[in-house]
Amino acid sequence: MTDSKANQKINRHTITAALPYTNGPVHIGHLAGVYVPADIYARYLRLKGEDVLFVCGSDEHGVPITIRAKKEGVTPQQVVDKYHAIIKKSFEDFGISFDNYARTSDKIHHETASEFFKTLYAKGKFIEETSAQLYDAEAQQFLADRFVIGTCPKCGNEESYGDQCENCGTSHNATDLINPKSALTGNKPGLKETTHWYLPLDKYESWLRKWIVEEHKSDWKTNVLGQVKSWLDDGLRPRAVTRDLDWGIPVPVDGGENKVLYVWFDAPIGYISSAKEWAARVGKDWEPYWKANDTKLVHFIGKDNIVFHCIIFPAMLKAEGSYILPDNVPANEFLNLEGNKISTSKNWAVWLHAYLEDFPNKQDVLRYALTANAPETKDNDFTWKDFQAHNNNELVAIFGNFINRVVVLTHKYYEGIVPRPNEFSEIDENTLDQLQQFPIIIGKSIERYRFREASQELMNVARLGNKYLADAAPWKEIKTNPERVKTIMYVALQIAAGLAVLSEPFLPFTSKRLKKMLCLNEEVLNYQDDVVSPSKKEIAIPKQVRHKLSRLVGTRNNVMAWDDLINEETLIKPGHQISKPELLFAKIEDTEIQIQLDKLAATKQENEAESKFVEPQKEVVSFDDFTKLDIRIGTIVEAEKVAKTKKLLKLKVDVGMDVRTIISGIAESFTPEELIGKKVTVLVNLAPRTIRGVESQGMILMTDTPDGKLAFIEPEKEAVANGVKVS
Ligand code: 2FM
Ligand code: ZN
Repeated sequence: MTDSKANQKINRHTITAALPYTNGPVHIGHLAGVYVPADIYARYLRLKGEDVLFVCGSDEHGVPITIRAKKEGVTPQQVVDKYHAIIKKSFEDFGISFDNYARTSDKIHHETASEFFKTLYAKGKFIEETSAQLYDAEAQQFLADRFVIGTCPKCGNEESYGDQCENCGTSHNATDLINPKSALTGNKPGLKETTHWYLPLDKYESWLRKWIVEEHKSDWKTNVLGQVKSWLDDGLRPRAVTRDLDWGIPVPVDGGENKVLYVWFDAPIGYISSAKEWAARVGKDWEPYWKANDTKLVHFIGKDNIVFHCIIFPAMLKAEGSYILPDNVPANEFLNLEGNKISTSKNWAVWLHAYLEDFPNKQDVLRYALTANAPETKDNDFTWKDFQAHNNNELVAIFGNFINRVVVLTHKYYEGIVPRPNEFSEIDENTLDQLQQFPIIIGKSIERYRFREASQELMNVARLGNKYLADAAPWKEIKTNPERVKTIMYVALQIAAGLAVLSEPFLPFTSKRLKKMLCLNEEVLNYQDDVVSPSKKEIAIPKQVRHKLSRLVGTRNNVMAWDDLINEETLIKPGHQISKPELLFAKIEDTEIQIQLDKLAATKQENEAESKFVEPQKEVVSFDDFTKLDIRIGTIVEAEKVAKTKKLLKLKVDVGMDVRTIISGIAESFTPEELIGKKVTVLVNLAPRTIRGVESQGMILMTDTPDGKLAFIEPEKEAVANGVKVS
């Protein structure tokens, strides 16, 4: 098995996109993070004539499904059937070009995952261990994964799940959580013995470090490398790959009764079963796509999935022994919506199926807005105003406007027939040369997973066209120099044809309509001098032009390929008839945007109303217990961010008796600068705790505000001195 494909000839590509959980529909965060970039990549490679297998499917196991079923009062099967149908249809309608979209409840997947487990078991790759695990006696349920919430031992996030902290991305075991709480009953869990199979990740640590941190240091994204390095530096530990649950793939070995495979063990194997399903359907062999060294495997995922795709799944593949490893895992960061984190449970999202209902035939607008603003290196914000601006100022005003002018003028001057050019001037040559560079430039960006940059270069092709038209001004020349206009329109039409091809990965619906408008089909691409109809009364092609056109002979496929744009200079031939103009994009009015903003405002109101729900009173405490709490007034005198965390600030607080260090999870609500001099209320006799290597000597009392931020409990009078007791 080769670990790096850098200097190797690639003969096929296996592209995977994270299997979405079927506990809700797909939203713009999923699209921007995973599916749109993966689709651009797959479409681009197909246009390059590469052998591509692009797979995905529904992730139908795991705790989130069970939780959703409980919430909706239905069975997990009903939940997955409902959301699988919604997700699959919305992907299709949105033009995500999967070669196969499977589901992990499929028989072929159950078999593949079971076999995988049995192989590792037979090879002695697991550790079998009986240990005390968190147990909710009231719910009669072991608490793993999302069934348990507690404080992350690494970053202090108080809402970490049992298997992963969504704040810092750390993957841990449920027993690692500080102050765990059952998500089912809210109870503090007890412990109960149970047996599980563990993958000893620690044994793969040095191999992972060599493979990723050393071999891929220059081609993997820095956000991915950073996370991987930090886990490796923290040290890996054995990781349970089975669970005491009744929803999932049964553990297929002795002692596995009433247990299922951990969802993150079975889900990535779903990529393999999806490939198998595809192969069976199209009569191909799936194995080279997963086992041949000349296959390039790329996983598209969001940042919360990095640990699973860069540590756990590769370790599984390595343990199995016959599979290739990913060549790259270009994970994206998160997309927020109108300044707040997208949340399925709070309905704070733009759902794909709802978007498609509200904006029928505007798939490409969303694809473009999400790509132009993709969270590739940092979290980004989606706003409806920005969406409108991408449409009105770029797609309509630049791309659509250029195409419209070219097609309208071609009809006006030549009844829609591509004119035969005369001699090229410098500006024509330059423009055609620049056009020829774009497939290379855009291709390079895509191959480096810089889709945002690639989309801007695509728009630059239309900008080139607009500038050319503005400079060459055919509408002026037509009065005095009609022969010159033929050359101008010929050049402009080449740009239009170039756009029809280059836009395909990004704007597949537009590309199709544009190709139809330009009647780009096989005949156009089989240009030969003698096929130009003599009835068109075109002048003879000058020598200077002929050398370029002469290369365009022979038969090609129906579809113009990416490299034709690099190798051929005539993309649309003289004498070719194009269709009537049709607007590719329509302006989006403020009223349409307002409808979406109103929807979000309504959601916000609903959430606020829900948050007015007052939590029931906790257990009664004795007066003596209360007096044990030593709460004082203090002043923040220093504040700084804790490196590599999002939520944590390191504060120095003057509490009268001393100035102490307190680590507080408030960085998302306050900047360090605004905290200096702030009066706060501090529980000073809380047992010290070491967080991120720093001893925290107390806790600042906070409350939640309706917008999801935190607020201090401050004394009403500024003058209250530090150290004064709160009682
Ligand atoms: O985060 C998620 O939505 C997971 N269902 C992704 C699974 S990716 C994979 F490995 F299948
Ligand atoms: Zn954390």
